[in-house]
Amino acid sequence: MGLFDRFKVKKVEGVDDTMYLTLREEKRISKENAKLMKEFEQNKNRKNVSEEEYLTQMRDPSNVVEFDNLHTYFFTDVGTVKAVNGVSFDIPQGKIVGVVGESGCGKSVTSLSLMQLVQAPQGQIVKGSIRYQSSDGKCYDISKIPRDQMLKIRGKEIAMIFQEPMTSLNPVFRIGEQMDEVVLLHVEGATAESAKARSIEMLNLVGIADVEKIYNNYPHELSGGMRQRVMIAMSLACDPRLIIADEPTTALDVTIQAQILELLRDVKDEINGSIMLITHDLGVIAEMADYVVVMYAGRIIEQGTVHEIFNDPKHPYTIGLMKSKPGGDSTEDRLYSIKGQVPNPINMPDYCYFCNRCDHAMAICSKEYPEMVEFTSDHRTACHLYYGEGLKEQNKKGVEVGSDGN
Ligand SMILES: Nc1ncnc2c1ncn2[C@@H]1O[C@H](COP(=O)(O)OP(=O)(O)OP(=O)(O)O)[C@@H](O)[C@H]1O
Ligand code: SF4
Ligand SMILES: [Mg+2]
Repeated sequence: MGLFDRFKVKKVEGVDDTMYLTLREEKRISKENAKLMKEFEQNKNRKNVSEEEYLTQMRDPSNVVEFDNLHTYFFTDVGTVKAVNGVSFDIPQGKIVGVVGESGCGKSVTSLSLMQLVQAPQGQIVKGSIRYQSSDGKCYDISKIPRDQMLKIRGKEIAMIFQEPMTSLNPVFRIGEQMDEVVLLHVEGATAESAKARSIEMLNLVGIADVEKIYNNYPHELSGGMRQRVMIAMSLACDPRLIIADEPTTALDVTIQAQILELLRDVKDEINGSIMLITHDLGVIAEMADYVVVMYAGRIIEQGTVHEIFNDPKHPYTIGLMKSKPGGDSTEDRLYSIKGQVPNPINMPDYCYFCNRCDHAMAICSKEYPEMVEFTSDHRTACHLYYGEGLKEQNKKGVEVGSDGN
């Protein structure tokens, strides 16, 4: 029996998440969680694991990453947070995939799962796989790869840029020291001289003018935009195949934001890499992304090319998102906002998660979680409006979703 199967069996009996938990119930959950987390951790920390356990094959060789039914949970004392709950999408070589969705929908946890950086021991990948095509010609399943092997990929082949560079830069070391360290750690045979040369080259590449000065500065001496350039330079030092950018421009003002986005696009072309771009900002997605993944409460509710998602959104939530962007379709003076709230992540329903907020909700929507319906080879959505009983009901009503601006 796999770890996940055992997890299902060990569901805490008699505990109803919809009610407040008693201290005793919390203790029971906490005890069960401790046991589970220990098993997951022991599994990840094994040494000398045979490659067969974590080598796999890409479904499509033109992809760098394939998320396949990924489930990442947090085992908390008040219950299990299903932060990522069955997510599948691809990141093709040389493309930018934008991930959008409301705060807390699982965007960051998806990317942290890919880096094996989910906060452990409470955060664990419990099911599914993340296939990664490495530059060594092998395909790894990151959900199964042991920690020591992951060190060869993280920071070298897959780099990450965060929203606030100050959280990633160490305030007590000079920029140059921190950049050199990355090169010395990941580039085989690197010396102090070659590391410095590489750092300087990367700082030049990201358009920093006074390179020697910046190299010797401490992080606090730089502006926000400059720090983000340094982070990008640092992430490029080892020629990554994939850059994960999690809200890379949210902390910057609009003009600097545009420069950083342009820089990201340029460096992607320069290294012929791919970018997973996480953002709340639909304008950024429209400008940058080739493909868009729309997440809602830990699941993908719609995905497609940027053109399909912006010009022909199908899911009522995506349609609402498009209306809520400044300069969007809304003809009202005030910006459109999607009413209501996401359900409690510890107690998700077994029917459509958007039901309580959807103007199109039908009887079937509160009975079954909708299947993914395909419109093109890239464009699909999980919504009852487009198949089966729900579609019949819509046809009877003669309403075309989105045509009335709803
Ligand atoms: N360490 C943790 N412990 C418990 N729950 C967590 C933890 N980290 C994240 N979560 C939960 O996982 C869910 C997904 O979080 P995540 O950070 O991926 O959201 P997000 O889409 O990146 O949101 P934002 O746009 O605000 O950055 C949320 O419900 C969050 O509360
Ligand atoms: S499945 Fe039903 S409730 Fe959910 S988004 Fe579609 S129409 Fe709305
Ligand atoms: Mg986030």
